[in-house]
Amino acid sequence: MSQVHVDDSVIALARELRDEMQQFLNEYRFGMREIETKLEILRDDFAHHHSHNPIEHLSSRLKSIDSMLEKIQRRGIEPQFDTIREEITDIAGVRVTCSFVSDAYRLFELLIGQDDVEVLAVKDYIANPKPNGYKSLHAVVTVPVFLPRGRVNVPVEVQFRTIAMDFWASLEHKIYYKYDKQVPQKLLDELREAALTASDLDERMERLHRQIRGSEEEAPTTARPAPAPREITGGGGTHVA
Ligand code: GTP
Ligand code: MG
Repeated sequence: MSQVHVDDSVIALARELRDEMQQFLNEYRFGMREIETKLEILRDDFAHHHSHNPIEHLSSRLKSIDSMLEKIQRRGIEPQFDTIREEITDIAGVRVTCSFVSDAYRLFELLIGQDDVEVLAVKDYIANPKPNGYKSLHAVVTVPVFLPRGRVNVPVEVQFRTIAMDFWASLEHKIYYKYDKQVPQKLLDELREAALTASDLDERMERLHRQIRGSEEEAPTTARPAPAPREITGGGGTHVA
């Protein structure tokens, strides 16, 4: 096996790049944790004070380096950390799956109403679904992370959706990749129809839920006194399409 001499400076440079990459990704990891904590706090408080919990499921993911490189190439982004920070806002992603559409909006309002959360962009694919039928409410927000070297505002993409929207999106995603992004028209049509069925289910479930809640309010159980209504403030933000 032939051996080559690797200069110390090359190794030092590689280590520096590795450290910079780790620090870059860590900031997103921390920002993601801050947002997750905020949502967990809302969920736990709802569990304590209300009969209905609007969050069914929380998940998060850090974009893989491969998928970051793919986006850099696809969008022609200058491969510098500062430019990547500016241009790629979905490195940290949090998904909030709710039972009902109104819960998705409610959680969104409660998150963006917090005074350390700043909204960079909102895409309301619930009000304006994508042509393929995709629905979800997307918000890119920044959250402060406090490090020994100071405060950094970290962008996090938060997706709010219902269980039905999530079910549809996971299947569509699988099909899209199974067919290597060239999905036959018949399947595309069926997917669009399935999206409408999912929306219809969401509407029906929400209607039923309201009816049940309405009748609960009319006939409260006597097991224990109902807790005093507790107003949740901090919404106030508006969503834009
Ligand atoms: P990306 O380059 O994919 O991040 O898209 P974008 O910057 O135009 O953002 P957009 O808000 O449209 O989508 C961001 C994310 O939403 C994606 O990474 C997916 O997680 C999800 N998403 C958007 N469109 C679809 C869709 O048609 N199907 C599914 N399954 N997910 C989608
Ligand atoms: Mg993305």
